[in-house]
Amino acid sequence: MADATEAALLEKASRYAFRARMDKKVATGPVFASARDSTVTDVTGREFLDFNSGQMCSALGHNHPTVVAAIREACDTMLHAHSSHYNVREIELASRLGALVPAPLQKSLFGESGSDANEMAMMIARKFTGGHEIASPHISFHGLSDATRAVTFAGWHAGHGQLPGGTTAMVAPYCYRCPLAQTFPQCDYACLTTSFALLDAQSTGRPAAVITEPLFSAGGVVEPPPGWLKRLHEFCQARGMLLIVDEEQTGLGKLGDLFGFAAEGVVPDIITVAKHFGGGVGISAVITSAAIEEKVVAEGYAATHSHSNDPLICAAGIASLDVIEQEDIPAKARRIGTQMHERLQALMQRYDMIGDIRGRGQLIGVELVRDRNSREPATEEGRAIGRFCFEAGLIFSLRRDGSVLRFVPPATTTPAQIDWAMDRLGEALEAASTGKRA
Ligand SMILES: Cc1ncc(COP(=O)(O)O)c(C=O)c1O
Repeated sequence: MADATEAALLEKASRYAFRARMDKKVATGPVFASARDSTVTDVTGREFLDFNSGQMCSALGHNHPTVVAAIREACDTMLHAHSSHYNVREIELASRLGALVPAPLQKSLFGESGSDANEMAMMIARKFTGGHEIASPHISFHGLSDATRAVTFAGWHAGHGQLPGGTTAMVAPYCYRCPLAQTFPQCDYACLTTSFALLDAQSTGRPAAVITEPLFSAGGVVEPPPGWLKRLHEFCQARGMLLIVDEEQTGLGKLGDLFGFAAEGVVPDIITVAKHFGGGVGISAVITSAAIEEKVVAEGYAATHSHSNDPLICAAGIASLDVIEQEDIPAKARRIGTQMHERLQALMQRYDMIGDIRGRGQLIGVELVRDRNSREPATEEGRAIGRFCFEAGLIFSLRRDGSVLRFVPPATTTPAQIDWAMDRLGEALEAASTGKRA
């Protein structure tokens, strides 16, 4: 009976659901029906351990009771509000965020997705500087709207024709595969000196900003070397460019710190948050200083959308900040990261297909190679490992054509669940290695 329900739903999906999805272009199961903590359940009753946290937005745990209660309360009070007038929840959320970020960051503007927050951040930088040139590292992901796709260099450009102008790729600090064949720290950040030499050469004299993730998630869970963000900030300051740090994947505790930039001792000019900021509901924020806000508003900047400051999504944002503070999500993230790294290191001893293990807290990546010397990406092997684990009931995502396994376990994940997941990964590596051991 249950299967018939799934078959009927998939038949409808194949007729009516537009398939512009990132990782799947066919209408096949599972069809999800419910979720709690780290587990998602499909319409047949089958459970999966979700090491992707949905689309990384349930990193506090699926259907967290604090978030659910806040949404229920909003249903009894006010769901939607006029976006030019203030409402109670929006003011409360902006105040909470303002108290959380380092000075001079202070003022928040809300959106509904990561892409629109990054678009607003870029518009603010252009309005503030009077420039239009925006650069981003070549493995970055900032969204798939037209404006953010133009600074998303990790892929998804094919067939889109001319992208909006004024955007340029920089050489990313991907040390495991340095495009400049350098080694850190002897390179002295050659990726930055090279990138800025090119940016300066192309500039029409109107630079506006660099937008970057502090740790590149969709580009392959790539961590810049220590000091990179600080040096990048200096390069920007020397040119009057603003530094926008996209913390949508990395912020609000997921890496074991409140923000990814914290470890670098840098305060960006603008940051954006999204994903688990809404605890599973679509809300994002751009946060900047009062001085930047003052100037761009004086110059007529307006950016509200129909649902930007809605009490419903702001209530979810407040609840997620409550969870982050009360449950000490950074500490939970560190505990998850430590156990994941220990288990992955043990697998790396056994399987030479594991070339590199990266990431921090709840955001962890494993880069697979056919040979540790040549570092040829093990793309097909990675896809086979992804399928094996999925069939065993473990969800995670594949990046870099399958050669990077990306894990984002929700903060609710127990040590036993991590052990179970890593046991399945071990079996998948054994099946894919065909006898090739470290
Ligand atoms: C770092 C980063 N920025 C922006 C986005 C885009 O967010 P959204 O899909 O909510 O528009 C994502 C989505 O994965 C992301 O990882």
